[in-house]
Amino acid sequence: MKLLIIGSGGREHALVWKLAQSPHVTGLWCAPGNAGIAQERLAKNGALVEGVNISAEDLPGLLTFAQEKKADLTIVGPDNPLALGIVDLFQANGLKIWGVNQKAAQFESSKVFSQQFMEKYGIPTARAGAFVDFPSASRFTASLGGRCAVKADGLALGKGVLICRDMAQADAAIEEILVKKAFGAAGGKIVIQELLEGMEISLHALCDGKTARLFPTSQDHKRALDGDQGLNTGGMGTYSPTPFLTGAQLADTGQKILDPFMRGCAAEGIDYRGILYPGVMLTKSGPKVLEFNARFGDPETQVYLTRLENDLVELLDASVSGTLAKMELKWSPLASVCVVMASGGYPGNYPKGKVIAGLEAANALPHTKVFHAGTAKSGDEIVTSGGRVLGVTALGKDLKSAQAAAYAAVEKIHFDGAHLRRDIAAKAMR
Ligand code: AMP
Ligand code: GLY
Repeated sequence: MKLLIIGSGGREHALVWKLAQSPHVTGLWCAPGNAGIAQERLAKNGALVEGVNISAEDLPGLLTFAQEKKADLTIVGPDNPLALGIVDLFQANGLKIWGVNQKAAQFESSKVFSQQFMEKYGIPTARAGAFVDFPSASRFTASLGGRCAVKADGLALGKGVLICRDMAQADAAIEEILVKKAFGAAGGKIVIQELLEGMEISLHALCDGKTARLFPTSQDHKRALDGDQGLNTGGMGTYSPTPFLTGAQLADTGQKILDPFMRGCAAEGIDYRGILYPGVMLTKSGPKVLEFNARFGDPETQVYLTRLENDLVELLDASVSGTLAKMELKWSPLASVCVVMASGGYPGNYPKGKVIAGLEAANALPHTKVFHAGTAKSGDEIVTSGGRVLGVTALGKDLKSAQAAAYAAVEKIHFDGAHLRRDIAAKAMR
C-alpha cells in the first residue's frame, strides 16, 4: 500500500514512524512533513519516507498529488484540513482517506455544536450555555459566581479558552472574545462552562461509524512552565497510562461518554470515522467532558503509538471500512513518557534556525525515540523551525523509569534557548 500522511508536527512524525513499520506499506509520502519524518525508512523495503512540499490546508494540491501518485490511503493528522472538508473532497473523488468528515469535524470546529450535542444526548459535561451577546453571557456567569471557562466557538489554535475565577475576570473574558474578537471570527459565538476542578486527562477512541475502541488514558501538560504555571501551549509533554482511573473505571467512563456519543451520531446522521479525543476532568462528582477533539492529540499520539502493538495500517483501514468490531487493540504494558523540547519564548515569539545537536546520541538510547515537530534541514544540519521542536519519548517498565529515560535522552540534545518542563509525569507519582 502507498500512503499519504498530511501534517508536519510531532503527532505526524509518530504516525509516520508507526505506519512505516507495517509490512503492508511500500511507499509513504508526508505533506509537508519535517526533517525527522524525512529520515524514516519503511520496514518492508528500506525506502525513505518522502516529504512533499504541499501545505496541510492546500486541499486541491493534496488531492491532485494523491491522484497522480495513486495513494491507496491518505491519513490526516491536524484539525484544520478536517474542518475544511478534506475527507469529503477525497471521497467525492473516489479516494480512500482516514479522518472525520466535515460534519463530524464540527465536534472540534464548533464548541457550541459540541456542547449542545452533549446536553441533548446525556454525555456528562459541565453546566454550560451558548451566547452571542454580552448581557446574557454576563448574566449566566453571574449565576456561576464568575467561576467559569469562556470559550470561543470556533478553532483558535488551542488558545480560545479563558479561565475566570470572579465576575470581573468573566466580564473581561466575554468582552475579549465576543466584543473585541481577540480570536477573530472564532469568537462570534461563545460557550461558557462552569469551572470544573479535578485532574484533567485525555481519552482517545478509534471509531468506524458504529464501533468505538477506547485507548488507555494519557495526560497532557498544557501550561508552559513547571507546576502548571505560565501560558497555555499546544502541549509540553504527555505520559500513558495514568494512575487516575482503574481499568474498570476507565471502561465505565468510556461507556458513559462513547455510548451516548455513538447513539447521538446515529440519530443526527453523523458518520464518525476517525479519532474521538475527549478532554475529561475527573471531578468529585465523576468524569466530565470539557471538550471534544476530532483527531489524534499532539503530543498524546507520541505516547500512544510507542505503546500500540497493533499494525496501525490495519486499524486505520478498519476505521475507514467500518470493520473495527473485528479488531482488538493491543497495548504494551510498558509506560511511555514524552518530553517536549520547545524554542525559547514559545508559546510567544521565538527564534528559528537554531542548530540541534545530539539527536543521534539520544535516539541510540534503548527504548527511546525522538519525534520531530518544528525541525527543518539546513545544509547538513537539522535546525529548529517551530515552537514545539522535539518530542523526546521513552518507554520504561513503569512511569518512573520511562520518565528517567526520557529526561536522560533530553540531556543528550542541545539547541540554543531550548525550553522544556522538568515535571512531565510528576503528578502520576504524587
Ligand atoms: P479546551 O480547549 O476546551 O480543552 O480548554 C483548554 C483548557 O482549559 C483545558 O485543557 C482545561 O485545562 C481548561 N478548561 C476548559 N474548560 C474548563 C472547565 N469547564 N473547567 C476548568 N478548566 C477548563
Ligand atoms: N494535546 C492537545 C491537543 O492535541 O489538542
